[in-house]
Amino acid sequence: GRIRHYKFNVVTKNANRLCSSKPIVTVNGHFPGPTLYAREGDNVLVKVVNHVKYNVSIHWHGIRQLRTGWADGPAYITQCPIQPGQNYVYNFTITGQRGTLFWHAHILWLRATVHGAIVILPKLGVPYPFPKPHMEQVVILGEWWKSDTEAVINQALKSGLAPNISDAHTINGHPGRINGCQTQGGFHLSVEKGKSYMLRIINAALNEELFFKIAGHKLTVVEVDAIYVKPFKIDTIVIAPGQTTNVIITANKKSGKYMMIASPFMDSPIAVDNKTATATVHYTGTLSSSPTTLTTPPPQNATVIANNFIDSLRSLNSKKYPAKVPLKIDHSLYFTVGLGINSCPTCKAGNGSRVVASVNNVTFVMPTTALLQAHYFKTKGVFTTDFPSNPPTVFNFTGTPPANMATINGTKLYRLKYNSTVQLVLQDTSIIAAENHPIHLHGFNFFAVGKGIGNFNSKADQKNFNLVDPVERNTIGVPSGGWVAIRFRADNPGVWFLHCHLEVHTTWGLKMAFLVENGKGINESLLPPPKDLPKC
Ligand code: C2O
Repeated sequence: GRIRHYKFNVVTKNANRLCSSKPIVTVNGHFPGPTLYAREGDNVLVKVVNHVKYNVSIHWHGIRQLRTGWADGPAYITQCPIQPGQNYVYNFTITGQRGTLFWHAHILWLRATVHGAIVILPKLGVPYPFPKPHMEQVVILGEWWKSDTEAVINQALKSGLAPNISDAHTINGHPGRINGCQTQGGFHLSVEKGKSYMLRIINAALNEELFFKIAGHKLTVVEVDAIYVKPFKIDTIVIAPGQTTNVIITANKKSGKYMMIASPFMDSPIAVDNKTATATVHYTGTLSSSPTTLTTPPPQNATVIANNFIDSLRSLNSKKYPAKVPLKIDHSLYFTVGLGINSCPTCKAGNGSRVVASVNNVTFVMPTTALLQAHYFKTKGVFTTDFPSNPPTVFNFTGTPPANMATINGTKLYRLKYNSTVQLVLQDTSIIAAENHPIHLHGFNFFAVGKGIGNFNSKADQKNFNLVDPVERNTIGVPSGGWVAIRFRADNPGVWFLHCHLEVHTTWGLKMAFLVENGKGINESLLPPPKDLPKC
C-alpha cells in the first residue's frame, strides 16, 4: 500500500442554514468535512491540529485499527483529547476492508458538525464484485440545530430531561426545501440518461435513524459498513447513526428532476418529527425551471418498511469474500440496553430525577485519563474488569417495568482473551421509552446472526440463527422491545468501546468497553503508543 497524508485543521466557521447563521466547529472550514480517500492496504496519517476552544478527538468509525488502538479516537477510552493549540497524528493501516465508512469527532457533541466520509477503494486492479458504476457520490445525512449543540446537551444535562430535537435534517449539509425557508444550495446530483451511479450513504446524524429514497428510482444495495452484501433492489432504505450503505441507481428516465429525501424513522415515536431533508437527482439537459417529481416520506413509525430492508441484508459470502462466522463460542454474553431514571437532587425541571441509560444496569462513568493508557502502563484505580456478563436479575419484560430498574455507576470493562469468540445478545429493555438503539462496537466487525421481538429465549431463538451468510457490520439497530444477537472474534488486542450511536444515549451512559488481552504470537499484541499521544 501507499502512504496517504492528510491535514485536518479543526477551526470555527460561520454557517448559514434555516435562514440563520451560527458558528460551528469544522475540519478545514467545511461542513460536512473533507472526504478521506485510501485504498485497502494503505497507511493513512492524519495530522489533526486543534484551533478551537474545545478539547477534540477524531474517530475513524469502522476502521479495524488492528493493534493500533492508539489511533481509534474515542476521548478518554483510547486517548486523552487533543487540547486547544495541540496536535496529534492518527497513524493507521487499512487492513482487509474496502467500502464506505466515516470519521467523526468523538468527544462532547462535536460530531454534529465535525464529520466526513472515508472512501476505501479496493486494492489496485481488484474490481468490485458488481458492475463498475459510471460515477460515485458521497451522500452524508445529518442533523441541524439552530442553537449551539453544546448548549443543547448542557441544558439537557442540567435539567435531567431529554434535549431538544434538531431543527432540520440535512443531505450533504443542506436541508433542501423546508417550511418556506428555502436555503440556497440544496444538494443536486447530475445524472446522464442510461448511466449508473453509486451513492455512498452515511448517517452522521446525532440522534436519528433515517429513511432514504429517491422518487422514481430503485436502489440496488451492494454494501453496508464497508462489507459487500448480496445485491438486492428496494425502494427505501433505513440507516441508523453510525451506519453506511452503498446503493447503485440507474438513470433510467429520459429526463427530469427527481426528489431525494431523508426522513426520520422512530419505531415507537417519543417525539413527533416530520422534518424531511430534500435533494434532487437532475438529468443533464433538463431545464432547471422544470418541475421536480416528488416522493413522500414513509410514516415516522413505518417499522415494516424498515424491517423489509434490514431483513434483506446478507453477507456476500463468496469464495473471495467469505463470511467467517464464529461457530464455537467462548464467551456467551447477554446485555440489556435501555434508559432509566436516577435521582438527581439538583435537577429541578426533572423533579429531582434525571434520565440515565445503562448496559446491564451499569451507567458507564467516563474516566479522567484514557483507558488504553491505563491498561498499557498498568495504572491502578482507573477501571475495573468486572462488567457483568448478564443483568443483575433475570430480565423478563412483560410490559410493566421490572423491579431491577436502578443503575449503578462505574467504569467497568469486560475482559476477553486474545482470539476468543464472543456471542453477544443485546436486549432492548423499553422500560421508559421504546426506541431502537444503534449499537456500535469499535475495533471489530461482527455478524448479526439473529434478531427478534420480545425477550430473547436462548434455547428457542438460537436454533434460528443464521450462521451461514449473516450480514457483517459495525453498528446494529437493537429493535425497540426486541433483541439482536451478534458474534465476533476478539482478534484485536486493546480497549474497545461499545455504545449506542444515538449521541444523547451515549451521554446518558449507554456505553461500556471490552479489554482484549494480548496474544502470545509475535503479531498478536497492541503496538506501543506513538510519541505524540496526547496527555490528559
Ligand atoms: Cu461512530 Cu464510538 O463511534
